[in-house]
Amino acid sequence: MLLPDLAVDASLSAHAAPLLLIDDLHFAYPDGRVALRGVRLRIARGEKVALVGPNGAGKSTLLLHLNGILRGKGRIEVAGMSVNDHTLPQVRARVGLVFQHPDDQLFSPTVFEDVAFGPLHMGLAADEVRARVERALAMVGMSAYQERHPYHLSTGEKKRIAIATVLAMEPDILAFDEPSAGLDPRARRGLIELLRGLPLTMLVSTHDMAMVQELFDRMVIMDEGRVVADGCVTALLADRALLEAHGLEMPWNK
Ligand SMILES: Nc1ncnc2c1ncn2[C@@H]1O[C@H](COP(=O)(O)OP(=O)(O)OP(=O)(O)O)[C@@H](O)[C@H]1O
Ligand SMILES: [Mg+2]
Repeated sequence: MLLPDLAVDASLSAHAAPLLLIDDLHFAYPDGRVALRGVRLRIARGEKVALVGPNGAGKSTLLLHLNGILRGKGRIEVAGMSVNDHTLPQVRARVGLVFQHPDDQLFSPTVFEDVAFGPLHMGLAADEVRARVERALAMVGMSAYQERHPYHLSTGEKKRIAIATVLAMEPDILAFDEPSAGLDPRARRGLIELLRGLPLTMLVSTHDMAMVQELFDRMVIMDEGRVVADGCVTALLADRALLEAHGLEMPWNK
């Protein structure tokens, strides 16, 4: 019964407005290196999608387009809003992007100020900002770190603070670039449970295939600037030839 189901899904997704739509996105860095070659992706509200692929596939480049940090050629829509100069403030309030390297995200003298930065710039009242900072830090298990200097934290701690800066914005879409990289097993477990419990739409770039299997239903594989597969995690992870062709493997497949 695979075909009729697929046909129904295709007709639904053609009509329902996706929360995130990327159509024929191309991008080259200023030095001429082509990083995206016609990416197409639709994500519906509430979906949790893993984005995988080898080093250099274009995952980070794609995520940096979601809130307009990079601007390529093609169409990107967030909640029906096309990403452009006029919509950037609204888009950035809706898409919470956690960078691959936390040092790119943290710049204030204290953790509190870093996490408060986004909510303050949304024009929220001081009480609401404080409440959001406290909630976000509690979610990543870093409540005791408010007065610490972000630069004097370990990589895993910085990562969790970077995640808190985004959670404090209370976005609709979380775009995470390798959130579990550099985390110890307990922090990684905490992150997985956090992501599982968040009722948000997510696009999460990762090399952590065990996390993909545990947490996600849908997986998008990128290679050489294109989406080369997009489907159910169970089916794609069972396709050894596909994984091998794109430099992926399950940790226990030697
Ligand atoms: N600032 C830059 N200037 C020029 N080329 C870049 C720049 N950043 C990335 N690239 C190139 O763009 C391509 C895509 O890189 P990207 O960082 O998006 O890959 P990725 O899939 O995130 O890889 P990884 O798994 O290593 O994080 C690569 O060929 C990379 O060398
Ligand atoms: Mg990357």
